Amino acid sequence: MSDEQLVLAAVDGHVATLTLNRPKALNAISPALIETLIAHLDRFEADEQIRALVLTGSDRAFAAGADIKAMSTASASEMLLGRSIERWTRLAACRKPIIAAVSGYAFGGGCELAMMCDIIIASESAQFSQPEVNLGVMPGAGGTQRLTRAIGPQRAMEMVLTGNPITAQEALQYGLVNRIFPIERYLAEAQALAATIAEKAPIAVMLAKEAIRAASETTLREGLALELRNFYLLFDTEDQKEGMRAFIEKRKPIFKGR
Ligand code: CAA
Repeated sequence: MSDEQLVLAAVDGHVATLTLNRPKALNAISPALIETLIAHLDRFEADEQIRALVLTGSDRAFAAGADIKAMSTASASEMLLGRSIERWTRLAACRKPIIAAVSGYAFGGGCELAMMCDIIIASESAQFSQPEVNLGVMPGAGGTQRLTRAIGPQRAMEMVLTGNPITAQEALQYGLVNRIFPIERYLAEAQALAATIAEKAPIAVMLAKEAIRAASETTLREGLALELRNFYLLFDTEDQKEGMRAFIEKRKPIFKGR
């Protein structure tokens, strides 16, 4: 399979869906797969027509983690100098909203990739796990940090120290996923949610995402200052004028992303 096919891209209106496509390896995240994903993200982030993204895998596996075969013989200095995991953070740095549509295994780096997205929609058969301790390592792409913020230290401790998976129902109860749907519907529901977000004013969505991210990355004082700055900044956009005018004129706004 050529590298381009490792992640498939499809566009419907203002929504781009990226599908991890290494089915034989349960979408294990290889360096080539990450680079292909980054190329798509760069392209869609620069494309004004795209206002929201969906990241998905197959019904059987969202992704079964970092590619174990690609790193099994690596030394610490090779891992460090290769900065392979740092490349993954391109996903977390995307300014447009991303919904993860997760089914089957979201293990190790797969769970970490899903947590870099903004919203997680799961199928009833999704399973989330940080099983790295079974391999003699630990999570390295946010599994100790994002998971702890998402579900709290006790639950994160249990998941990371035992490596045991949790079900979609448990993930919902813990607040790791937003919603669960039957396997036939989870992807369409994630795309519908992305389409709903894509109807909103794009710069407002982008700055709101940035502010929500700040809530877990900065202090309350810094987060509130960023929120206020972003709120004021939006009054310089055409979409703010259009949105408020449309409300007053009792019609639907037409947002242009400017
Ligand atoms: N890396 C490379 N190959 C993988 C893989 C991975 N993470 N996960 C699965 N595969 C491959 C298997 O080697 C197998 O390939 P072959 O057919 O060539 O043997 C194929 O995918 C199918 O897998 P299984 O036969 O194991 O399928 P299964 O249904 O019996 O089990 C599973 C599914 C429980 C997910 C099991 O594959 C598994 O435990 N995978 C590894 C999960 C894991 O440990 N992930 C963490 C990786 S480390 C990490 O992610 C570090 C980080 O934080 C950045």
